[in-house]
Amino acid sequence: MQFGTKLGNPEKTRTQCVIVGVFENNKLTDSAKTLDKASGGAIKRVLNRGEITGKVGQTVILHDVDGVNAQRILVVGLGNAETADTPRFIKIVDTTIAALKKTPAKSALCCLLEAEAGGKDAYWKTRRIVERFEDGTYRFVDMKGTPPENPVALETVDIQLASRDDQDSVDAGIDDGSAVAKGIAVHKDLGNTPGNVCHPTYLADKAKQMAKEYKSIKTTIVEEDEMIKLGMGAFISVSQGSEQPGKLIIMEHKGGGAKEQPHVIVGKGITFDTGGISLKPGAGMHEMIWDMCGAASVFGTMTTIAEQQLPINVVGVVAAAENMPSGRASRPGDIVKTMSGQTVEILNTDAEGRLVLCDALTYIDKFKPKTVIDIATLTGAAVVALGAPASAMYANDDGLAADIESAATETWDRVWRMPLWDDYQTQINSAFADMQNIGGREAGSITAACFLARFTKKYRWAHLDIAGSAYRGSGMTKGATGRPVAALAQYLMDRADDEED
Ligand code: BES
Ligand code: MN
Ligand code: ZN
Repeated sequence: MQFGTKLGNPEKTRTQCVIVGVFENNKLTDSAKTLDKASGGAIKRVLNRGEITGKVGQTVILHDVDGVNAQRILVVGLGNAETADTPRFIKIVDTTIAALKKTPAKSALCCLLEAEAGGKDAYWKTRRIVERFEDGTYRFVDMKGTPPENPVALETVDIQLASRDDQDSVDAGIDDGSAVAKGIAVHKDLGNTPGNVCHPTYLADKAKQMAKEYKSIKTTIVEEDEMIKLGMGAFISVSQGSEQPGKLIIMEHKGGGAKEQPHVIVGKGITFDTGGISLKPGAGMHEMIWDMCGAASVFGTMTTIAEQQLPINVVGVVAAAENMPSGRASRPGDIVKTMSGQTVEILNTDAEGRLVLCDALTYIDKFKPKTVIDIATLTGAAVVALGAPASAMYANDDGLAADIESAATETWDRVWRMPLWDDYQTQINSAFADMQNIGGREAGSITAACFLARFTKKYRWAHLDIAGSAYRGSGMTKGATGRPVAALAQYLMDRADDEED
């Protein structure tokens, strides 16, 4: 989708659809007033008839209105003008794109900057419009044998400016929003590609493509034989059960000075999680095609920051493996040695994410990271605790936690901080090894984070458990959500701003 800007006279704009908001109690926005006047009261008439009352979630389409050059007017309810907050603005944008994509309109003029969003500025609103319009029109069609019916027609969207003063911030919102949307689409495409196609080698190839596409990115693949030499016994214990070789994928974005310490993001890339010998139940197992959404988040975020040519150094790491039961697979009870030297008793082969991540988190110490964030669909317990609205966040550093929370709230890609207290550490103590890979029924997301915490003591680290937020598992709207690419990219954009100060 192509975004641009327009100033003045929405009634004169030749577009296939002009989008205007109306508040509750028959209150019109400025653009709605202008269109109403130009059309001799067409908007007020539908309001008076009760066709739309201005409540959030409502839309109505007027066709071929005299005095207005647009083919259609999409009237959108904005709710009570006095209580407009940020989630409501997002809901309005989502409602708008849902209605718009049902029409054959190829172009639109969007006058929604007039909707209040809890004091947010034109840049913020523009980003939400761009990101949510792209999100709402995304479809995964790569695997369709026959082209889908009713493809989305929308190609260009102009955003109506209130005044020339807004030009720069809206332009910036379009640029940043488009870069983030591109990263989100990368996440969704990779996430939705099934396990028979998207295996570790596929992800490694994708990373090599990234290096070809972006000058700032250098890709290195650490193969299994090298991992064995490095002593990554935990990673190998997972990948050895599969015919597909595991890959540790490194993408370095060099946007900052040669000596500047990088921010490192590490994604869980289990391209399919059967559970291994501790086999998962059959019903719902197909959802485990999304067990590489942490990896998809790394690919998505690297895409966004490379698009933006962010002037900082960022290393994106993907721990890619397939978790399969086989004659070579780990047995429950096996004890392995990690790259850190610590040993792990594998009591459940389905707790494999922490096994591949712990060695990746030890490996990245060589980059002398400024901060480290790992992203993983790590536990079903995170879904039970928080559901889809928030990713679970853990951190060994309050400043880092605050920075991530700020970025996540700003982009409305929210996180909720969970405790990483020592009290929980005892649950993963092992009689035979230094630790075991499961901590019992209680606090499952927390004990998984506690496991990772034992490998991340040397740097400022946060962990995002995205099992609930990264994808929708069933129904006709199932698929990867792109989360938390927006939050991660914002976190890094904020760090680039810090550097400038
Ligand atoms: N990939 C799963 C976690 C998961 C579950 C993600 C449901 C999304 C939806 C992970 O590898 C796993 O199997 N975790 C186990 C851990 C348990 C064995 C301690 C779980 O959550 O049941
Ligand atoms: Mn598992
Ligand atoms: Zn898993």
